[in-house]
Amino acid sequence: MKNGLEDVIAAETRLSDVDGDAGRLIIRGISLEQLVEGASYEDVAALLLDGLLERPVSAGELQALLGRVRAEVFVHVQAMDGSLKNLPPVDAMRALIAHLPDGDDFETALRLLAAPAVFLPAILRLREGKAPIAPNSSLSQSADILAMLTASLPTAEQISALDAYLVTISDHGLNASTFAARVIASTKAGLTSSVLAAISALKGPLHGGAPGPVLDMLDAIGTQENARKWLGQALDRGERLMGFGHRIYRVRDPRADALKGALVPLVATGQVDADRIRLAEAVEQAALAILRERKTDRTLDVNVEFYTALLLDALKFPREAFTGVFAIGRTTGWIAHAREQALEGRLIRPRSAYIGPVPQAA
Ligand code: ACO
Repeated sequence: MKNGLEDVIAAETRLSDVDGDAGRLIIRGISLEQLVEGASYEDVAALLLDGLLERPVSAGELQALLGRVRAEVFVHVQAMDGSLKNLPPVDAMRALIAHLPDGDDFETALRLLAAPAVFLPAILRLREGKAPIAPNSSLSQSADILAMLTASLPTAEQISALDAYLVTISDHGLNASTFAARVIASTKAGLTSSVLAAISALKGPLHGGAPGPVLDMLDAIGTQENARKWLGQALDRGERLMGFGHRIYRVRDPRADALKGALVPLVATGQVDADRIRLAEAVEQAALAILRERKTDRTLDVNVEFYTALLLDALKFPREAFTGVFAIGRTTGWIAHAREQALEGRLIRPRSAYIGPVPQAA
C-alpha cells in the first residue's frame, strides 16, 4: 500500500509526461518550453485531442467551432439561478456545467471546452452586479474570455499571456483531478461527469486552489524586507508556503518559468505593476532559502501556482476566480485523458487493505 499512491503507475498515456527529477514536462512529444512559444489555446487543444474524438479537428477549425458553441452555451447564463453567484466562482461554474448534457461524442467535448470559458467571466461579472457580456464568436477562446471579463477588447500582450497560461496548464500527467476524470471515464459515465469530478478535485488547496492564497501571502508580506520574517513565522505556525512544493517535482516546476516568461511582455509594456513582480521575486528567493534551511529532508521548490497568481492577477482576474481559470485550461487535458481511458482502458477498481475490527467469534 502506497499512501497517496506515491510513485504508483496507474495508467498508460500518450498525452503528457512529467519528469520530476529533470524538471521537464512533455505534451504529446513537445517540450513545454517549445510549446509555450507562440502556441494558442486552440493549438494545444487540437494537439491533445488529436485522434481521440470522433473526427479529426484542426486548431483553425476548433477556433471557429468553439466560437459557435460559446454563443450556444450562453443561454445557460441567461437562464441561471441568480443565487449561484453567491457561491465561490469555481463552485458556481461547476453547478452550471452540471446543466450540460452528458455524453462521449464530439459535440459534448466541444461544449465542455467552450462552457467554462463563458460561465466563469459571466459569474464574475454577476458577482460585481454587472450584466454578463455575450461571447463574440469571431474571437479566439483566450481573447473572448478576456473580452467577456472586462467588457473591452484585450491587448495582443494580454491575449498572448492568457494563451501561454492555458497552454502551460493544459495537461500534467496523472495529477489528482486528471486521475478523477479517468476514474469516472473508466465507468463510461460520460465526459460531463468526468469534467465535474475533475473540477471537484481541482478546487482543493493542495491542487488547484493554491494561487489565490499566493496573492494573500504577497499582500500579507507587503515589502521585500518583511519577506524572510513573515515566511519564518508562517513555517513556525506549521503552515505550508503556498506556491511551493510538489508531489512529483524535486526541482523547479518548469511551468513556473513558462509563466514568468509570459509576464515579461506585460511588464515591458507597462500593463502590470512592476513593483508587484519585484516583491514576488524577493518572496520567492526568501522562501526558497528558508525552505532549504528548514526542510532539509525534502527539496521544495517553486511550483506552477506561484507565477499563475501573478499572471492571472495581471490579467485582472479576481483571486477567487483563479481556480476556475485553471479549470478552463485543464479541461482540455481532462477530456483527452477521459477519452483515452474510455477508448483504451479498463474499469479502474483498486482494492483497499482493511484495518478495521473483525467480527468476534461466536
Ligand atoms: N511549505 C512548507 N512545507 C512544505 C510544503 C510547503 N509548500 N510542501 C511540502 N512541505 C513539507 C511538508 O510539511 C512535509 O514536511 P514535514 O514532514 O516536515 O511536515 C514534507 O514537505 C513533505 O510534504 P508532503 O505533504 O508529503 O508532500 P506532498 O507531495 O504530499 O505534497 C503539495 C505536495 C501538496 C503540493 C505540497 O507541497 C503543498 O502543500 N504545497 C503547498 C500548496 C500548493 O502550492 N499547492 C499547489 C500544487 S501544484 C498543483 O497541484 C497544480
